[in-house]
Amino acid sequence: SFVHSKALDKLEFLHGAAVCVDQSGTIVAIERDCDEANAIEVLFPRLGWVKAEVVVVRAREGQFFFPGFIDTHIHAPQYPNVGIFGNSTLLDWLKTYTFPLEHSLSDPAKARQVYTRVIRKTLSHGTTCAAYFATIDVASTNLLADLCVAAGQRALVGRVCMDVQGSPDCDYYRDATAESALASTHASIAHMRTLDPTMSLVRPILTPRFAPACSLPLMRALGTLARETNLPIQTHLSENKAEIALVKSLFPPATTGATDDSYAAVYDAMGLLTPRTILAHAVHLTAAERALVVARGAKVSHCPCSNSALGSGLARVRWLLDAGVVCGLGTDVSGGYSASVLEAARQAALVSRLVGVTGGGKGGEREKLSVEKEKEREKEEEKEGERQKLSVDEVLFLATRGGAEVVGLEDKVGGFEVGMEWDAQLIGLGTVGEGGEVEGGEDDEGGNVDVFGWESWPERMAKWVYNGDDRNTKKVWVKGRLVHERK
Ligand code: GUN
Ligand code: FE
Repeated sequence: SFVHSKALDKLEFLHGAAVCVDQSGTIVAIERDCDEANAIEVLFPRLGWVKAEVVVVRAREGQFFFPGFIDTHIHAPQYPNVGIFGNSTLLDWLKTYTFPLEHSLSDPAKARQVYTRVIRKTLSHGTTCAAYFATIDVASTNLLADLCVAAGQRALVGRVCMDVQGSPDCDYYRDATAESALASTHASIAHMRTLDPTMSLVRPILTPRFAPACSLPLMRALGTLARETNLPIQTHLSENKAEIALVKSLFPPATTGATDDSYAAVYDAMGLLTPRTILAHAVHLTAAERALVVARGAKVSHCPCSNSALGSGLARVRWLLDAGVVCGLGTDVSGGYSASVLEAARQAALVSRLVGVTGGGKGGEREKLSVEKEKEREKEEEKEGERQKLSVDEVLFLATRGGAEVVGLEDKVGGFEVGMEWDAQLIGLGTVGEGGEVEGGEDDEGGNVDVFGWESWPERMAKWVYNGDDRNTKKVWVKGRLVHERK
């Protein structure tokens, strides 16, 4: 069985199917209703394949192949801090927990330890592609890229640019000047271009941390570099209300040439809103900012675990999708407490239900109405609230196809299509036998998911989304290479 997204709200189920992957990791054929004899007698000859040279991977009854997850926003150096955030909010969290840890990863031994682990951990959760923020340190950023290549994880790796500490100020961890930040960025790009010249697995990404940590000359220079090189960009946008107020105070339109005083307009004035830009969070956008993001073709990484943990707010994903904003999911480790994209998908579904009961993304001033009109409005709002909910199919789309589009790889990954690459995970849920025991080995074979056998396939997917974890992720491949196997 192969399951993947056909559209935002539609999973497709292919049962008794065969997917043929060539030695370069590219899908060359997908056959429905194809048993093994069929494959050997009909399919292999058609592809010019010699049976003895073909490796057959069989899924057990009830298992299914699913496209690898795409984590569109994760901070590799922050991995040791997952779960450690206390009651902090963004700006004090950065100061208390994040900058000290990132700073300490300029120690190469520590960086190797942390980066090796975060790659292994994310692979074990089915993340076949990640957009990583590293640190300001060039050597350890390059090490992260090296380790991704060695482990076989597809990645965008960004050396973090931050030449100003607006707030909270901590002078010990920043680029000395805009010029030195640019030079370090170039050094890291050059390393990755040598490491993987065709950028088939790992590619560099320009990474201004967020507006309050960057000077205007640095942001402008990175915008220019993006235009000249077509490199992607990743940053944070409109995550937290205090951060937004800070941006307004730091960058009045007169200083940037922006058309208004919004956060998104600052990036736009610096040339940072492009079709290859990943904007993490986008929780508190105004309608005008949403329109600007759409006009520039920039993409959004929705990070619900982080937004809930740091109390940043409820991102209105339906509201973004309505306007045509391309969205994917990010774990935002360690603002997010989990390295699992499945957890992010689950939280995306749950948060969307809360958006629905807290005004459906409308809010604002409410004019006083007559009793009758008020009733009508309530009904209307209830309907609108219902519409905010993201289904299981939709959050799995965001985790795969949506994420692929966010990182600019929609032609290569995110689904099972001929011509795409085999980035996939084999998922196994627990099959409960007649005696109530779980079949196939250990009792935790299915982790937290028990399937009794009468559930429909859509119901099984719902059980996976709401109760699944890395115990269900049996095998993981990137570009045809087996990169994780659960022992
Ligand atoms: N804004 C600036 N830096 C960060 C970071 O490391 N994590 C999150 N979530 N937001 C940020
Ligand atoms: Fe982040």
